[in-house]
Amino acid sequence: MTIVETPIGVPLRESCIPVLETARLVLRVPQIEDVPAIAEHANNRKIAEMTANLPHPYRASDGSSFVAQCAAAEGFHFAVLIKTEGEPEFAGMCGMTRKPGERAPELGYWFGEPFWGRGIATEAARAIIDYAFSETEAETILGAARVVNPGSRRVLEKCGFQWCGAGLCRVKALGASVPVDRFQLDKSTWASLRAWGSTALPRQLFLAH
Ligand SMILES: CC(C)(COP(=O)(O)OP(=O)(O)OC[C@H]1O[C@@H](n2cnc3c(N)ncnc32)[C@H](O)[C@@H]1OP(=O)(O)O)[C@@H](O)C(=O)NCCC(=O)NCCS
Repeated sequence: MTIVETPIGVPLRESCIPVLETARLVLRVPQIEDVPAIAEHANNRKIAEMTANLPHPYRASDGSSFVAQCAAAEGFHFAVLIKTEGEPEFAGMCGMTRKPGERAPELGYWFGEPFWGRGIATEAARAIIDYAFSETEAETILGAARVVNPGSRRVLEKCGFQWCGAGLCRVKALGASVPVDRFQLDKSTWASLRAWGSTALPRQLFLAH
């Protein structure tokens, strides 16, 4: 992951949040220009019912309010853009916020349905986790996934999260609380996973069996 400084002249809050770049993605502070794409992709019941805070239907005004709130929010929200030959294409949102009374920040994400199944969520989540553990004071990151959301659970597992309990989460679009599995990733586990590559068995050894 590369961290790119944001240009001079952006508001103070934005200038504290870098642009993150991975092999396929650019992650940056959401901007007002993203609102049409946010509203288009977020207006999907399949997404709203798996996330805590997305309303359904999701209107452009919801997108505008969200982008405005990001500048003042605790934690950080990144718009995730896929690199293309031309302008990067908006794919979804990924961020981390600390809920009142919680012991650590929680990772959250959603991606437009056309982008599912390509490893985008995992790549974005890993970039944010790397950023949080290397550039902020986070010692633990929390995650949660509805029990009926194996895709999200798998993203957390691929990022090294471990199951740590079950509970309920309020889903705005449902107007109800639903069962969730809770996960956590400690900085020491993350550091160990990051270091594993340097001492791993050569790839041809485990492919031979
Ligand atoms: C969940 C979500 C983020 C996944 O995004 P994605 O870009 O498709 O995720 P990735 O491709 O990085 O990884 C998905 C993994 O889940 C697996 N998966 C997907 N659906 C699955 C299912 N029904 N059962 C089991 N595994 C499933 C995929 O095979 C993949 O694992 P693999 O790489 O080992 O094959 C995306 O579908 C989404 O935005 N959903 C709506 C919002 C949401 O659920 N947000 C999370 C709230 S906790």
